[in-house]
Parts: sequence; C-alpha cells; structure tokens
Amino acid sequence: MSATPAAQTTDGARVVIKVVRYDPDKGAGMREQTWQIHPQPGMTVLDALIAVKEHHDGSLAFRCSCRMGVCGSCGMMVNGKPRLACNTQIIELGPVVEISALPNHDVIKDLVPDLASTFSKHRAVKPYVIRRDAAEMDKPTREFHQTPEDMLGYVQFSYCLKCSLCLAACPTEASTPAFLGPQALAQAYRYSADTRDEGLSDRAQTVDAWHGVFGCHLAGACSEACPKGVDPALGIQLLKRALLFGPPHRTAAPAVPALPEGFRSPGASSVLEPPAPTV
Ligand code: SF4
Ligand code: FES
Repeated sequence: MSATPAAQTTDGARVVIKVVRYDPDKGAGMREQTWQIHPQPGMTVLDALIAVKEHHDGSLAFRCSCRMGVCGSCGMMVNGKPRLACNTQIIELGPVVEISALPNHDVIKDLVPDLASTFSKHRAVKPYVIRRDAAEMDKPTREFHQTPEDMLGYVQFSYCLKCSLCLAACPTEASTPAFLGPQALAQAYRYSADTRDEGLSDRAQTVDAWHGVFGCHLAGACSEACPKGVDPALGIQLLKRALLFGPPHRTAAPAVPALPEGFRSPGASSVLEPPAPTV
C-alpha cells in the first residue's frame, strides 16, 4: 500500500525504523538496528514496532497495553521527543523514525524503561485524599459532596497517566535524580487542591524542599511533553502558591490574583486527541 509523501523514502513507500537496543542479559552495550516497513494509513509508531516484532525480530522489547493513549505504558523517545508510541502517527515523522528508551530512567531492555523510581516518587507525595476525621473515615456516615466547580480546581491534573514522559523531558530530573519530578509534584497539587482533602501539611514534609517544588527551574519541558494536557509545570507553580498561602479551597482571600480561566504554561500541550483508527 502506498504511503503519503511525508512517509516516503527515495526508494518507494517505505519508512526506516531505527531502534536503539539494549539487552543486559547479553552483556553487550547499546546497539542500533534498523528495519524498513511499509506504512499503512493510520499506522502508529506502536503499530510499526508490533509489525517489526511479528515479522522481523520477536526479541524486540517494548511495553504497551491499551493502544489508545490511556494506560501510559508505551512512552519512548521518537525522533528526539518523548511520546506515546500508540498516539504518534508514522506518516507525520518523515522517512526515518529513530526510537530509543526514555532518558532519565534505567533501561530494562530495548525500549522498556524502569518506572520504579517514577512510581516511588508518586507514592512519596501521598496521592490520595487525606482527612483528619479518622472516626468518620473508619465508619462513614455521609458522603463528601463536591460541586462541579470544586472539581474544576483539580480535574486537569487528575488526567495523569503516569507515563513518565514529563520526567524524561525534565532537565532537572536529568541532573538531579533525587528531584521529585513533575509527575509527583503535579499530583501533590491535584490532591491538595481537592476540596475533600486536608493533607497539604502532610505532603509539605516531602514537597516543600530543595528536591521538591524548589528543584523546578520552570523550564516547561514537562508540560510540552505531556500527552494529556496535564500541564505539570503549572501544577508545580500552584503547589508553591498553596505551600505559601494554603490550598485554594481553604484560603479565604487569595493573596495573589487568580489565574485566568484556561491558563496554561507556555508550551503546554493540549489535551490528548484520540489516535486515528489503525488498520
Ligand atoms: S503529567 Fe503528563 S507526561 Fe507526566 S506522567 Fe502524567 S500524563 Fe505523563
Ligand atoms: S499502549 Fe496504552 S498509552 Fe500507549
């Protein structure tokens, strides 16, 4: 099947897939391997990798599950940018597609990053609603109501997939692995801004620190990389404000002007569009 001009090479409708591979069990270092594929309309980078695995080399390792930009497991570097492979169209990438594992992570094999550090940083910020009424939490007698307006205060940050693309893009993460990172810090704000939550002071013990919010230099690369429009850089700045003035729902008079409606950090991506159907 012929490809669109953007995907064609000089020798026809083929795209070169160039993958940086690594297999610790073989004791060898990294190596590059290339294959040529015929792009199909709607084919994603993940589809191309699956085609390579099925037809050329079954040992190629990568992670995926939902194939629709929801599970967050297929993050990798594609032509120099951290992306979800299942949400990246081959025909938009040109005749050569260079793929490697996410930086700022250990590599388990080929394109499979070790996400243990991402998840442990996420856990460190207590990503759940914390309340002081232990008796009520133990034996609930009522619901904790929340209005749609209350939800708007944090819902953008709840779209996080834990895909770790933001950590791969973050320059502070690259130089300072102890930095909590954009994913965890944005989630600290997500729960602290929840009207049901009373846990900011608990989270402050972890996030109000040099390797917490103050490690962020506001490069904004995390928000540019985020495939869900979470805008973690904005979450970090709002968390700084909450640490100074209290969470937004418990601050009687905001000490600083409210953000304009729909405000996003410069470079923040828009919310993920559903991928085109594959064939
Ligand atoms: S903030 Fe965005 S880029 Fe970071 S883990 Fe969540 S969804 Fe992925
Ligand atoms: S496979 Fe689930 S996000 Fe890509």
